[in-house]
Amino acid sequence: MGASAIREILKVVAQPGMISLAGGIPAPESFPLELIGALTETVLTRFGSAALQYDRTEGFAPLQAALADRLGTRGIQAAADEVLITSGSQGTLDAIGKLLIAPGDSVAVEAPTYLGALQAFSPYEPEYQTLETDDDGLIPESLEEVLKHKRVKFIYLVPTFQNPTGRSLPLSRRRKVAALIQRHDALLVEDDPYSELRYRGEPLPSLKSMAPGHVVYTSTLSKVLAPGLRVGYVLAPEPIARWLVIVKQGVDLHTSTFSQALAAEYIAGGHLDRHLPKILDFYRPRQEAMLAALDEYFPREFHWSKPDGGMFIWAEGPDALNTDELAHACIRRCVAYVPGRYFYPGAGQGLGTMRLNYTMTDPPTIRNAIRIVAEVFREAQSAARGGEAQSAEYGGAAPG
Ligand SMILES: Cc1ncc(COP(=O)(O)O)c(C=O)c1O
Repeated sequence: MGASAIREILKVVAQPGMISLAGGIPAPESFPLELIGALTETVLTRFGSAALQYDRTEGFAPLQAALADRLGTRGIQAAADEVLITSGSQGTLDAIGKLLIAPGDSVAVEAPTYLGALQAFSPYEPEYQTLETDDDGLIPESLEEVLKHKRVKFIYLVPTFQNPTGRSLPLSRRRKVAALIQRHDALLVEDDPYSELRYRGEPLPSLKSMAPGHVVYTSTLSKVLAPGLRVGYVLAPEPIARWLVIVKQGVDLHTSTFSQALAAEYIAGGHLDRHLPKILDFYRPRQEAMLAALDEYFPREFHWSKPDGGMFIWAEGPDALNTDELAHACIRRCVAYVPGRYFYPGAGQGLGTMRLNYTMTDPPTIRNAIRIVAEVFREAQSAARGGEAQSAEYGGAAPG
């Protein structure tokens, strides 16, 4: 296990006056605070002490039923008792690691991928097979190559508005991936916390709906209700589902009954459907402000993702421009982002990349922050060019 580099950055970010594009958390303004007050009363009236009692590991039955209905509207068929409730989707990822990974097993992950997944899997000592990606996410041929030559325990993928890149796998690639895992009888873990945060464009079908027997699907209420309640869920083929329950039993017995009861009311009472558009209207202008500022200020050697939803934009510049070192220069100018190299399972990759979050900052501040980051990068580029010109002048040998 290693301490998360992002947590170290987030400590600095907490300093007063810092503009943070580094976090990965929802805006507090997105939480339905008043509603939660009212729902608390409803929950206590409706469920009484059952909302405060120990409960089944599988989950609070009214929440399982509400989620099964909701998944149905998203093209995923599930009976209520097939939906297992977890302590956030992070709880699912840890359980998956514990259940499936023995030291030396191959696990295929996108590069870059969600850092929390690497943190959940790595203690079980897998050997990562990295899958290549481009602006449309995972390149299916890269998955095919791995599946041809390796027996992988599972493939881990965030196909929609990925963390850290914001990229989404287009329909044609989803079809290819679904066909590949079926042909190779492989197991895929589809982590889907962001698909409901769609600001424009048409929804894409989940991989779970395309290859149900080969996909463990996990999602969460963290981005559409509140992450502090720690309510996630997972839908897995048998016998994995049964074993996930046994693994969870040993970890926390069950997810907080009270949180689950609140979540059940939030969904079944139609509150999620009414509140979600407000979250989208809140985030959309923030994302648009970031995309516009990148267009206006960023050096032309950079290119960046232009997602239709989610919480992140991924910018890629030349490797020579070390975003890890420059993050410190930016922090001195009171702007923080996460250098991209931390999201790669292997060392030495993504040196010129960065993850930019826009959910926590208002549009004028985002614009200002991007302007400052661009300035720091330009200064570094011209300093490097100055160095090159100087070394050419002095016979080409760069000073130590
Ligand atoms: C891709 C991905 N998976 C899982 C999680 C964990 O979410 P939670 O445990 O709050 O459901 C996150 C959180 O940021 C995420 O980005």
